[in-house]
Amino acid sequence: MAETVRIFDTTLRDGEQAPGFSMTPEAKLRMARALAALKVDVIEAGFAASSPQDARSIADIARHIEGPTICSLSRANRGDILASANALAAAPRKRIHVFIGTSPIHRDAKLHMSRAQVLDAIRTSVAYAREFADDIEFSAEDAIRTERDFLVEALSVAAREGAATLNVPDTVGYTTPDEIYELFSHLGRHVDRPAGVIFSAHCHDDLGMAVANSLAAVRGGARQVECAVNGIGERAGNCALEELVMALRTRSDAFGVSTAIDTTNIMNASRTLAQVTNTPPPRNKPVVGANAFAHESGIHQHGLLQNRETYEIMKPEDIGLSIDGIVLGKHSGRHALAARAKALGYLLEGEKLDRAFEAFKAVAEEVGLVDAARLVAILAEQSTHRPQALWKLSKVDIRAPVSANAWPVARVELEHGERGRVTDVASAPGALDAAFSAVSQLLAIPARVDSLDMQYIAADPNEPSEDGQGASVLVEIAIDVDGELFSGRARARDILPCCVSAYLDAASNADTVRRLRAEAPGTVRAA
Ligand code: KIV
Ligand code: ZN
Repeated sequence: MAETVRIFDTTLRDGEQAPGFSMTPEAKLRMARALAALKVDVIEAGFAASSPQDARSIADIARHIEGPTICSLSRANRGDILASANALAAAPRKRIHVFIGTSPIHRDAKLHMSRAQVLDAIRTSVAYAREFADDIEFSAEDAIRTERDFLVEALSVAAREGAATLNVPDTVGYTTPDEIYELFSHLGRHVDRPAGVIFSAHCHDDLGMAVANSLAAVRGGARQVECAVNGIGERAGNCALEELVMALRTRSDAFGVSTAIDTTNIMNASRTLAQVTNTPPPRNKPVVGANAFAHESGIHQHGLLQNRETYEIMKPEDIGLSIDGIVLGKHSGRHALAARAKALGYLLEGEKLDRAFEAFKAVAEEVGLVDAARLVAILAEQSTHRPQALWKLSKVDIRAPVSANAWPVARVELEHGERGRVTDVASAPGALDAAFSAVSQLLAIPARVDSLDMQYIAADPNEPSEDGQGASVLVEIAIDVDGELFSGRARARDILPCCVSAYLDAASNADTVRRLRAEAPGTVRAA
């Protein structure tokens, strides 16, 4: 059996303390549930002494979350340790995490302490923490820039006082894989510790090496890695949990260790974090970015359709993503078009495929991505030789609430080449939600917005526009209809109509798929 590496998640502490990622106590509890479902070994729920709100939030998580050990960070002093012990009181499994700076710059510039004073603080604080919990972690902050002999001494003192986990942080993201591998190997040989005491890595990403450094630390003997979902954390962030876990799993031949993580909950944890912090990861983020399993180019799509392993080293379902990953756009080829058309019930072969492909390319050049509604319109046009209509937003008006307790009312007008013009009104606590509800009523597609990304595209300064701005907004939306996700996109001058058009695009895709399924499930039509 492969040895296991513990996953210590610090999304709610190191992650949450970074600008733009602060979370309410409710959001933290929701995120802690997602982390428990992921089966992380330890949740660092916060830094109890940092604020009464943080202490309350740790206490909530300690009371409600079962499974992982719940941990609170403390400086090496009695007040912080007591605050952590109180906040963790209700946790079935608790850990107090004590840290102090050990490098010369931390000792001299920040703590104004000698080596002997730092050792004394470690001794007394770890011993004090042991009065409240059996499970104590000690961190030598800025370990990477600490003199080797002193680091060995500091960690040995902590282990002697009862710390079961010795954390070696690269606080400033400075080390390299070779260096940290060598450091962990050295610590393994020289730190005086009882059996069962393990080393832990905590790497920051300032030079983009946090994951590589954490993996090298594992090769050097670390048996706990501290990481955060989507890689959030101080400055450039922490080691990204999803990247580390999938690297250990995908390349188990190289690392020879496993984790207890249920990887099928990775996508859910990443999305929960994006929702509670309003910050989705970049499209090209490994493992959880929107493009991580998306393939648009014809050559790649052809390969994937033959055998997914031609261009994929992980399966989307391994991280809990249910997509086929093939995105139809202007770089796509015939094979992908024929496969997607077949999935929608249209058989495309020979000349029919050639004609459909030509029409598809023209639309893709114009709109970028082509999903269900547009594709079915193209295919139907091929067989009926009549242009096929799509729903379009013709107007959206918002009426402001008349009193403080009332909701805004949205009036939406849609137009369809064949079905004509339809109008409906809806109200909701927010103007955007009201407009989305009106669209849902008109198409009879009840949906929940899963994600919405907006990009403001500033005008090209070399192409002056009449109104002096000339900018536009690009919105990409995903809606959940009965547990199935449908995407939509739109580009327009104004934010509100752009969001509503993107929602309409996604609802039209859902409507098309529903109609095809209802017509005759499994039917194959000739395009
Ligand atoms: O980066 C760091 O050194 C830390 C410690 C408090 C573990 O976050
Ligand atoms: Zn840190």
